[in-house]
Amino acid sequence: MSKRNWIYGRNVVITGCSTGIGKQLTLSLVKDFGCNVMGVARNKQKLDALKEELGDKFDYRRFDISSEEAWNSFATELETIGFNADVLINNAGMIQDFCQFSDLGAAGVKKIVDTNFYSVIYGVSAFLPQIKKSNFGYIVNISSASAILPVSGETIYSATKAAVKAFSESLAQDLAGYGIGVSCVMPGPVKTDLYKTRDEGSNAAKKNYELVESIGITAEVAAKRIIKGMRKRKTRVLIDSVARLMDFGVRTAPSVTTSVTGKAMKAFCDKVPAFAPIFKDQKENDAAIKEKIAARKDMTYSSLKNVPVGGPFGEKKD
Ligand SMILES: NC(=O)c1ccc[n+]([C@@H]2O[C@H](COP(=O)([O-])OP(=O)(O)OC[C@H]3O[C@@H](n4cnc5c(N)ncnc54)[C@H](OP(=O)(O)O)[C@@H]3O)[C@@H](O)[C@H]2O)c1
Repeated sequence: MSKRNWIYGRNVVITGCSTGIGKQLTLSLVKDFGCNVMGVARNKQKLDALKEELGDKFDYRRFDISSEEAWNSFATELETIGFNADVLINNAGMIQDFCQFSDLGAAGVKKIVDTNFYSVIYGVSAFLPQIKKSNFGYIVNISSASAILPVSGETIYSATKAAVKAFSESLAQDLAGYGIGVSCVMPGPVKTDLYKTRDEGSNAAKKNYELVESIGITAEVAAKRIIKGMRKRKTRVLIDSVARLMDFGVRTAPSVTTSVTGKAMKAFCDKVPAFAPIFKDQKENDAAIKEKIAARKDMTYSSLKNVPVGGPFGEKKD
């Protein structure tokens, strides 16, 4: 336990502490850094088990992070009991099913946006007054490598994580003058239950998990590297080689990297069942789609000259 580290002994509020990365962060912050951690999640059994293991240095509240009202009451309650947060870690989040955007539905989209993005806004808004009072004010937002390289089938997840990244990076500039640091963490695959909970029990979900198991880092390693990023007060935190590779590709050849990733996912969709729902229709209609694209190349000015000026409702050209 290094007492020279600024993290030592701080009061930390963290969401998603019941499992995965959030649980490992909580364990390390309490055991290795002597922090007082107030966790947020919903699963009582898992939270009680954590309380049992950590004792007085840990407590929790159960609420849905997509509720602004719940965040505000939570912050007020902590102020009342004298727990002034130095650090807020917005870790909790959900993934979407690998599918075409149109298959998510409006309610599906809203749930992901509320859970992954609005929760971060609500959390920061509710706790900023406390964080500003602290001499060690710090905010950590867990985004994703898909904010760097958005992938097919993860449209809304990628969009919410990109929103968290943009919010964090500009927030870091807003708060620099107050001496408050902001880290945005963009993990690649981490072996957690994130992919199990999605579309629970389905074959695709299991296959997604198998893929993550084969290339991901453990939540324990992720937590260690996130804390290292916090210790160094780094705004941009990459914790694994997959995220670094994605970052390198996007920095050096953005268009090529994005299109090659999409093409590779399509090419391997028979071998990786998780990708199948995204490309199934496209594969089945491959020939017709290719024909349609080829036809575009034959379109010349002469073939378009009878198109009305200003589109189908405009005046006709001579
Ligand atoms: N695992 C990865 O490969 C990966 C990669 C990139 C980014 N990330 C990001 O890392 C963060 C942590 O993910 P993880 O892999 O550790 O996932 P996880 O194992 O599924 O844990 C998610 C945590 O968030 C909590 N949670 C989810 N929705 C909530 C809600 N509406 N209200 C309150 N708590 C909620 C869950 O607690 P309860 O179920 O008890 O409510 C759980 O503690 C997420 O933001 C995720 O997007 C993960």
